[in-house]
Amino acid sequence: MNDYPQILFKNRVVGETAFIDRFRANGGYQGLEKGLREMTPQEITATVKASGLRGRGGAGFPTGVKWSFFPADQPVEKFLVINGDEMEPGTYKDRQLLLADPHQLIEGVILSAFALQVSHAYIFIRYAYEECSRNLEQAIAEAKEAGYLGRDILGTGWDLEIHLHRSAGRYILGEETAQLNGIEGVRPNPRSKPPFPAAKGLWGKPTNVNNIETIACIPHIITGGPGWFINLGITQGGVGTKLFGLSGHLNRTECFELPVGIPLREVVETFGGGVRNGKGFKACLPGGASTPFLTAQHLDTPMDFEPLEQLDSRFGTAGVTVFDETTCMVGATLNLIRFFARESCGWCTPCRDGLSFVQWILEEIEAGRGNRDQIAMLKDQKKNITGRSFCALAEGAMGPLDGLLRHFEQELEDHVKLGRCPFGD
Ligand SMILES: Cc1cc2nc3c(=O)[nH]c(=O)nc-3n(C[C@H](O)[C@H](O)[C@H](O)COP(=O)(O)O)c2cc1C
Ligand code: SF4
Repeated sequence: MNDYPQILFKNRVVGETAFIDRFRANGGYQGLEKGLREMTPQEITATVKASGLRGRGGAGFPTGVKWSFFPADQPVEKFLVINGDEMEPGTYKDRQLLLADPHQLIEGVILSAFALQVSHAYIFIRYAYEECSRNLEQAIAEAKEAGYLGRDILGTGWDLEIHLHRSAGRYILGEETAQLNGIEGVRPNPRSKPPFPAAKGLWGKPTNVNNIETIACIPHIITGGPGWFINLGITQGGVGTKLFGLSGHLNRTECFELPVGIPLREVVETFGGGVRNGKGFKACLPGGASTPFLTAQHLDTPMDFEPLEQLDSRFGTAGVTVFDETTCMVGATLNLIRFFARESCGWCTPCRDGLSFVQWILEEIEAGRGNRDQIAMLKDQKKNITGRSFCALAEGAMGPLDGLLRHFEQELEDHVKLGRCPFGD
């Protein structure tokens, strides 16, 4: 059914894990051999930069640009951290990667660590991902046994250890500086930036943080070359493939590897099998819980960073959650805000107090006790919280509220006018 090139999912057989024999039989560790034997660290970074790869963890920062800020050539201790927190509702792509093919990540970590000249890499993994953690432990042991990890890797004189760190389990630990605190074993409030982790990260040393899917792309970019990677995308400016995790009111809620730039309509109708029970499409979150809703008028939009930004939404993690025509968007937004309010670390006032206030207003309106002043207060809160919080959690929480206010204000009005939810319970 999926005729698009399968790069990250090429070894994927649902219900099975490709360990070292199957991984190597299918071309695994060839990127590592090429990178370490034929390229310098600077050449690897330049190749990643030329590929145009953008971070798959949500913010979409160009990976090669981030690496070029890193002091790889300085003879100080430095670290690489791989972000596998994945607690954003609607996002489950990294889990699929690790269930299917943990060596792909390990190969990417080794190549990235070589490019950045670090000797210790940490994989930070969501506490609930126990099977993924076990797969990684086995893959790390196999890679060590094969001579890809440890001392003097492939005779380069360079050493690398990979440490697996299981999260204590909160959404804020996905924020990169909170994650560094989590690994250090202190309370995971986000840190102030600057200094950025590239200057002062883990234990005050230069640290680079990247998402699991981002790092899994690296071996393929090294073997295939930047031009090949760019051509996998199908919009101008869109590069590579992306894992799309589908959820919500669709006939098929699975994870698919699709080209960056694929129209939303194709994602929903061809891969998601259309809206379930023959209902109409009302809205979707295009890239996880923190991205503003899109509506039916946006179905022909290419799923890529710029086109979604032009609609004041975001590509995020490409976790596409679909809502059918019978969904109350006030209730759906309330559900998301409850998550963000509960996960606030409580450090700064706009987030700690603002999100629970927004939650209370939405609860009042949803229960039919709201009034028009409260709709105005929602707009006010959105302004007060956006850009005024310490980290991007609160800003992300404003994503669905922003979508609600821009596309579904009439539903708020209807709740107030009727004194109940027009969609029933
Ligand atoms: C509240 C919050 C949660 C986040 N959760 C994740 C996560 O689970 N995984 C992830 O890779 N990035 C997450 N991020 C983004 C990271 O801070 C960081 O931008 C990312 O790991 C960088 O990797 P990338 O450039 O490869 O995308 C989160 C950010 C915030 C503010
Ligand atoms: S925005 Fe929220 S999660 Fe981020 S530091 Fe402030 S209180 Fe904590």
